Amino acid sequence: MYLTKDEEKYLNGEKGEVIERMFRLLVNLGDIYSADKMIPVGSVQVAGVSYKSMGDPGTEFLEDLANKGAKVKILTYLNPAGMDLENWKELGFPKDFAKNQLRIMDAFKKMGIVVTSTCTPYLAGNLPRFREHIAWSESSAVSFSNSVIGARTNREGGPSALAAAICGVTPNYGLHIWENRQPEIKIKVDVELSFSSDFGALGWYIGKQVKNKIPYFTGIKDANTDQLKALGAAMAASGAVALYHVEELTPEADLVNTKGLETINVGKKELKETYEKLNTGKKPDIIIFGCPHASLHEISNLADILFGKKLKKPVWICTSRMVKEVAERMGYNKIIKNAGGSIVADTCMVVSPIEEMGYKTTGVNSGKAANYLPGFCKQNVCFANVDDLIKEAL
Ligand code: F3S
Repeated sequence: MYLTKDEEKYLNGEKGEVIERMFRLLVNLGDIYSADKMIPVGSVQVAGVSYKSMGDPGTEFLEDLANKGAKVKILTYLNPAGMDLENWKELGFPKDFAKNQLRIMDAFKKMGIVVTSTCTPYLAGNLPRFREHIAWSESSAVSFSNSVIGARTNREGGPSALAAAICGVTPNYGLHIWENRQPEIKIKVDVELSFSSDFGALGWYIGKQVKNKIPYFTGIKDANTDQLKALGAAMAASGAVALYHVEELTPEADLVNTKGLETINVGKKELKETYEKLNTGKKPDIIIFGCPHASLHEISNLADILFGKKLKKPVWICTSRMVKEVAERMGYNKIIKNAGGSIVADTCMVVSPIEEMGYKTTGVNSGKAANYLPGFCKQNVCFANVDDLIKEAL
């Protein structure tokens, strides 16, 4: 790989131990994937934030880095943490868990990372531009930025994202290169998609079929950004789709070559079967929205539905701290609280320890959450659209 004079200094340890370690990691990654050079990145999103997934070894690794003076060079955000960083007591998160989660956040803060934890950084002050190179980690955020925004990122692991943040560069390979962003399979959609859960079910079904290929959708007549985030999140969870194109909707769809591609057809039958497959539970004891983190529009819709109602089961809406602030200002938080629900910031149903909080069956409208909850949180899942889930809670 070609390295600049400065980059050679990084590798030789002339800029200190931390930079040397981090840059070496990037060079090794670049060598594995035959990158020709390093490229500057505009922003980073680091995954591996929850104490649930990191445990003590990960926490100590971060503290060690922070104590050795590691500092990020560019705008760096974090993936959801294991709890609401402010309201954890009120929501019943375990005290010991909270103590360790706060140690992790302190280490990140010491490194200059913005300690706001969200899988929708693009809704919370970290919005890349079309064709900007970035180094993001969380699979739904990677999918959204590549597909809906047209920015360019591989799906980084926690350490490689951190290394990119500290060095300001990433190896040039994979989805950073235009030739690698061409679709590999066509998906013809012949079913009406109304709810976000329909997009989640479609995404889950397609992810299973195409694995890590790049799909090109036709037949999706319209979709807002909330629905596209649901589609991409589910495909990244059941498969490993990091980029998709939708005819007439996503920015690169007109620029890519679709000639001669094999086609998969999806209709009513496939969607119905996917809903059935994702339903492993009967009655939810908690309902959680906001996977990926809810937008202000999704929260306002839920506030409309919940206005004047009384919930009999806990309902959480997971979102970023920034969006929660605005939801509070708009009075949505009050409406949701009066109904008995909670807007939960900084975390989500998958990375928080809900199984330790006594929940066994979770209701979700997200294909991604439905995919991970059984394995990560030992949950049975009720997968349905927002209206049916709220009916279940009243
Ligand atoms: Fe985000 Fe958690 Fe879902 S990180 S995409 S809300 S599983």
